[in-house]
Amino acid sequence: MPGAAVRPVVGQPVSRVDGRLKVTGGATYAAEFDPGPDMVYGVIVGSTIANGRIAAIDTAAAEAAPGVVAVLTHQNAPRLPYQRHQQLPVDPAAGERLHNLQDDRVRFQGQTVALAVARTFEQATFAASLVEVTYDEEPAVTTFAAAARHALPPDPAWEPTMFGFREEMGRGNVDAAMREASVRTDAEYVIPRENHNPIEIPATIASWQGDQLILWDKSQWVDNVRDEMASVFDIPAENIRVISRFVGGAFGSALRAWPHVALAAMAARVVDLPVKLVLTRRQMFNLIGYRPHTVQRVALGADENGRLMAIRHEGMAETSTYEQYAENLLNPTRYLYSCPNVATRYRFAPMNVQTPTAMRAPGEVSGIYALECAMDELAVALDMDPIELRMRNEPDRDEDRDLPFSSRSLRECYRVAAERFGWDRRDPRPASMRDAQGNLVGYGCATGTYPTLYSPASARAVLHPDGTAVVSSASSDMGPGTYTSMTQVAADALGLSIDRVRFELGDTSLPKATVHGGSMTMASIGTAVQEACVQAKRQAFERAGVTDPEADLGGVMRTLSEPVEVTAQNTAGEQQANYSMHSFGAVIAEVRVDPDLGLVRVPRIVGAYGIGRVVNPKTAHSQCIGGMVMGLGMALLEQTVVDSRNARPANSSLADYLVPVNADINELDATFVEEVDPHVNPLGVKGAGELATIGVAPAIVNAVYHATGVRVRELPVTPEKLLAAPRSAAARG
Ligand code: MOS
Repeated sequence: MPGAAVRPVVGQPVSRVDGRLKVTGGATYAAEFDPGPDMVYGVIVGSTIANGRIAAIDTAAAEAAPGVVAVLTHQNAPRLPYQRHQQLPVDPAAGERLHNLQDDRVRFQGQTVALAVARTFEQATFAASLVEVTYDEEPAVTTFAAAARHALPPDPAWEPTMFGFREEMGRGNVDAAMREASVRTDAEYVIPRENHNPIEIPATIASWQGDQLILWDKSQWVDNVRDEMASVFDIPAENIRVISRFVGGAFGSALRAWPHVALAAMAARVVDLPVKLVLTRRQMFNLIGYRPHTVQRVALGADENGRLMAIRHEGMAETSTYEQYAENLLNPTRYLYSCPNVATRYRFAPMNVQTPTAMRAPGEVSGIYALECAMDELAVALDMDPIELRMRNEPDRDEDRDLPFSSRSLRECYRVAAERFGWDRRDPRPASMRDAQGNLVGYGCATGTYPTLYSPASARAVLHPDGTAVVSSASSDMGPGTYTSMTQVAADALGLSIDRVRFELGDTSLPKATVHGGSMTMASIGTAVQEACVQAKRQAFERAGVTDPEADLGGVMRTLSEPVEVTAQNTAGEQQANYSMHSFGAVIAEVRVDPDLGLVRVPRIVGAYGIGRVVNPKTAHSQCIGGMVMGLGMALLEQTVVDSRNARPANSSLADYLVPVNADINELDATFVEEVDPHVNPLGVKGAGELATIGVAPAIVNAVYHATGVRVRELPVTPEKLLAAPRSAAARG
């Protein structure tokens, strides 16, 4: 409990405590650390074929180039132990990670076949260009269509966990219910591959001091990077320190320890100098994961009142030939609506590509895109308002796990969003609304939901006799404002003013934390932070002999001769088994479509979210409008174009891979409904990061249908797709 004199800051719109560092360039990102003047630079040579073997590799010219320290290939690279290391949920449940330069095998275009190491980045880049590789090429699976022809089910031994699940799941008898339904829809939805495009690209600096390895790395989970390096080199984890103080956006791209991290460490050991390895943006499209291309089929059956009788949802996603990354497309379909008959089926489509990975709201955002477009199609078939359709199918409990929801505010989210948007001004007929410039106007809605995850984590609180506190955990802050929100939680738990508290993260020398992903940082690590602070405060009071719990901790601390230090683990999270825990949100979008050019503009998006307690409404709001921007990109712009000849990402630059820019963004209205959830975790938080981007793309696509009468089911909704589709009579001319 806060001391009487200090105003609580949880729930307050506190500005980022690291904001000044960020805008003044004082925040140090992975590639900006300086391990000393002898640091050298590594530049990767990528394969030019999609599948086969290296027949010959000639490094003579590269080795003779100015400044070159070494050129590593599979012929001269040290053989590394590569012990099994599979960290769920960030590593795929099946397969084996790519090993660097251990054999002559090429599995995808762009795979590392050599590393040039030189005194300067320019010298290394030049040397890399001189490496001559010849290949024995083998037939490759380079298109999703080809991969889909030999698709695989998940291993039946898998448990249905976050990123792994059984092939077929569900309840009831879908075939029979579908036959009895009065209204049916059945359609296929396609989402192309998307790449995370944070401004900070993957970067690692590796430095060995004897048998001690230090890595400065871009990471969402420093503890996992350490464990991965320990397994690759078969050395004790205690010999490795990983530092990642600031992350310039990640969206899931820095969850795993990607092969280039071990490559930097390997090179640093070979040349016995610190090595900096920064991928180019083009290499980023090849050498780390991405959101996989998915094809989904959703069939819905309802009675004449719009009550769902049957849902069938089948999903297929690309993966690599060496790992099975499972995209969590189907989980929400089993609990989002009340429906007695539900069937889901998952398939992998292995291709000669690198392994996909989690990208913001991994699986949910894609699966819900298909489900929520299908619901809009059902509303049209029923001639029913799409929000009303969703309200008629609100479940009382999670019908998949047969558990009560810990809290579920979707009705309230829709009420608030509809009111803020002015949904009642919507003429339900497609292509019936126009603006003064003659653009077609459409309103569309969609639901978002994401699980409230929870994992073990620990934190340390140190109370100093000068009245300041340092609280820490090996977490990460990829942008949501973790430095700030954790400082708020710590300040309130201690009853100190926020300027007396400093929070540290991003270093394996700090108490072990769980992954900074899955929207669970505040739930999991925040709980540990609160626990450590409560215990530290209690110890300080005990040591000072203070019995009044309302006494000011700052005064108590000044009587201490030694700091009080407490490390605590978060509490068990046993309620996870008793309740179905999810955040929910309602998203409504307006689009304006130029009827001649097929150009879609989004003048406004309204989102209302039930995310439990909001620790910092300012940073949470930022996270939500950021999620809207990302969802808009997914709906209208983003796609990694894969060359059908060799599965090469053909648009691997920010010039060619389109993301929304300022001119694409207009009014974004994100708001939180009041939601008190006593079950989720001690802080009552549900997380916002993933939820914020879920539901945005289907809301926009549904709005485009409403504006034009054209149903585009393959993202992104580009002008050519809109113009090519047969249009309703009303939308013409
Ligand atoms: Mo998030 S895709 O778990 O970084």
